[in-house]
Amino acid sequence: MTLERVLATLQQWVLFAGVGVAVGCVAWRALVAPRAARMVGDTHTARLRLIERRVAGVGAITVLVLVAAWALRMVVQVMGFRDPFVPLSEDVSFLMFETFWGTVWMAQGAILPLLAAAFWRARGPLTEEAGQRISFRFSAAWGVALALVLMLVATLALSGHAMGVDSGRPFIVAADALHTLASGSWIGSLCIILTVGHPMERNGEDVALFAAQLRGFSTGALVSVSTLIAMGVVLAWTHLDVPSSLWTTGYGRILSAKIAVAGMVFAAGLWNWRVGLPSCETSDGAAAVRRRAAFEVALAAGVLLLTAILVHSVKP
Ligand code: HEM
Repeated sequence: MTLERVLATLQQWVLFAGVGVAVGCVAWRALVAPRAARMVGDTHTARLRLIERRVAGVGAITVLVLVAAWALRMVVQVMGFRDPFVPLSEDVSFLMFETFWGTVWMAQGAILPLLAAAFWRARGPLTEEAGQRISFRFSAAWGVALALVLMLVATLALSGHAMGVDSGRPFIVAADALHTLASGSWIGSLCIILTVGHPMERNGEDVALFAAQLRGFSTGALVSVSTLIAMGVVLAWTHLDVPSSLWTTGYGRILSAKIAVAGMVFAAGLWNWRVGLPSCETSDGAAAVRRRAAFEVALAAGVLLLTAILVHSVKP
């Protein structure tokens, strides 16, 4: 494997993982937290606000990592495109201003700092004024972060294989974006619950809040997984000329490996849903769910790595 291929895979993996976490942050705030808040009631709002603040902080830090992956993306692109007979600046300027890829890359460069600022702003004040009722409303900053995350997801679809299809391109680009969105709102928000929303102490309040987040998450997860699979099938159908390409071509074999590992992630998620969810109200049950869900997220990271290799492979 050449250095260029290794760097391309690495930056793509970080980009996918980072976008997944960013989607997870906004999905947690828009879908999981309101359901959890309804389940636990007003008494736990202060604790939930604290988690919300940390989620927004994770979002901001993730975007900083994404900026590094974004810069590396240009380095990789130049390595692949470089003409030794013209100055480097000419190659970079051509890529940036005369290709659609460059337009999308620059759009990402504009979106990322705005997104970091929106997440930072969404953290809100550290403490509410004494005696003031703690509100848990969806702030404008979260609204802006949500809109920017949707744009970021669209830029991924606009710079991948979906753009190279001959017919039905808008539909395939939309399917690609939905696939990424669904994977982030499922695995990304699970990752957020595990790292930020998990019980800090083995006390009743923390465990109840963790269980409420898991329950709030599981309803949305069913919709996300169904969308993910449906759009995955549409993309696979589009990118493979015939089904046998799944085992006769390099692209197909990587896709087959991805589908196999994704199957394990689905199985782990199903197991946690059927076995873990009913027992997550106790601190031992919550710890067991957390262990199994961490395994699920680790497997999903493997799926993303295979996807990163896939998108840099030649289609059949
Ligand atoms: C844990 C499950 C999965 C995750 C986290 C995941 C994630 C992703 C991501 C992030 C992309 C990149 C989209 C882009 O570049 O805009 C992608 C592309 C894709 N996924 Fe998945 N996916 C999963 C399951 C599946 C399944 C089950 C299938 C097939 C049935 C599938 C088929 C594809 C295909 C064909 C592409 C397009 C690759 C290309 O552009 O060459 N995925 N996936």
